[in-house]
Amino acid sequence: MATRPGGAHAAKARKHLTHPVRVNRLALVRVLFCAPMSPHKEVLVRPKVLVSRKVFDEALALLGKHFEVESNQRDVPFTPVQLVKKLQGKPGAIVLLTDIIDDRLLAQCPELKVVCNVAVGYNNIDVKAATRRGVMVCNTPGVLDDTTADFAWTLLLAAARRVVESDTFFRTGKWQGWGLMQFTGYDVHHKTLGVIGLGRIGKGVARRAKGFDMRVIYTDVQRADEATEREYGVMYVDKRTLLRESDFVSLHIPLFPETRHYLSDPEFALMKKTAILVNAARGPIVDEKALVKALKEGKIAGAGLDVYEKEPKCERALISMKNVVLAPHTASASIETRTKMAMMAVQNCIAGVNGQRPPNLVNPEVLAR
Ligand SMILES: NC(=O)c1ccc[n+]([C@@H]2O[C@H](COP(=O)([O-])OP(=O)(O)OC[C@H]3O[C@@H](n4cnc5c(N)ncnc54)[C@H](O)[C@@H]3O)[C@@H](O)[C@H]2O)c1
Repeated sequence: MATRPGGAHAAKARKHLTHPVRVNRLALVRVLFCAPMSPHKEVLVRPKVLVSRKVFDEALALLGKHFEVESNQRDVPFTPVQLVKKLQGKPGAIVLLTDIIDDRLLAQCPELKVVCNVAVGYNNIDVKAATRRGVMVCNTPGVLDDTTADFAWTLLLAAARRVVESDTFFRTGKWQGWGLMQFTGYDVHHKTLGVIGLGRIGKGVARRAKGFDMRVIYTDVQRADEATEREYGVMYVDKRTLLRESDFVSLHIPLFPETRHYLSDPEFALMKKTAILVNAARGPIVDEKALVKALKEGKIAGAGLDVYEKEPKCERALISMKNVVLAPHTASASIETRTKMAMMAVQNCIAGVNGQRPPNLVNPEVLAR
């Protein structure tokens, strides 16, 4: 029987490399100059992976067991040109949502097999282009649902009860004693919460509203089944009804071309003058200029924002608005959750580089190519 080049070990390794996604066969090479001394010895050259920003040590340690790892320790995003250079010759990448993975980059990095975003959203990656080029794209769903839902609620309560404003007032020595009219905000309990996008995080936000005895309405491209609606105590309405009836509107849809500026002038015009908007999804879902206008003109009462159209910047006017709470995209930022996200991205990378199906593959159609 003819033996295939590379012997038994190579054959075993090749078993993992059988799907049609681009395979880096350089990972396993016989180093020819070793042959005279040890004719049967194979040297495993470890595939290279890039970690584009600072991540937890344990994530680097696990990656290091499998790959030759290059990581950006400066925690400043690479420029697009630097990112291309760093990714060339590497089959795996762990990236953050500050890294733009577009068709131009992918075209210049033909060895890339898997891009692992440390986030559930992946609007920083051109998934269609990646699929066309045979590159797997992965995200980190599930592990951040509760943490993000907690934070949406943090923003909601902080904006409704003027927490940040009162804190600044106190710290700057302005408080002269109790007053009946001081820092009166809006009640949350027994009000109507409108959840836009009843997915993993939207459900978490809805569930938490039970403790506040709220009426919860939701809208989504896909209506949930009856059992789910009962479980979460939510009622399906269309977008206009949600905007008209909600005291608090919380956004939990992904950023897609069709959800860009999902809320703009016409939508703010429908909302209650006392309504508070919470956005812990993605900045461009809200037309930020229209939001500023709505807040200035009193079309809505306030906002709690974690995300912005052009991060790390926001519309200047928001900075001086006391009825707006601003967080620097930290909704999933608990030590436990961010660690889980990083480890999940590592698991995706290990599988993807080794030619297996990553557990959190966003574009499974890539495997059918
Ligand atoms: N601020 C943060 O740090 C942070 C953290 C986690 C997630 N996020 C964002 O939150 C988003 C939601 O996360 P998830 O895990 O709940 O996602 P998910 O996929 O579980 O839920 C999204 C929901 O939105 C619905 N939807 C999609 N398009 C819609 C549209 N056009 N109109 C109405 N509904 C629509 C979907 O049907 C789904 O029910 C992510 O895409 C991410 O961008 C932000």
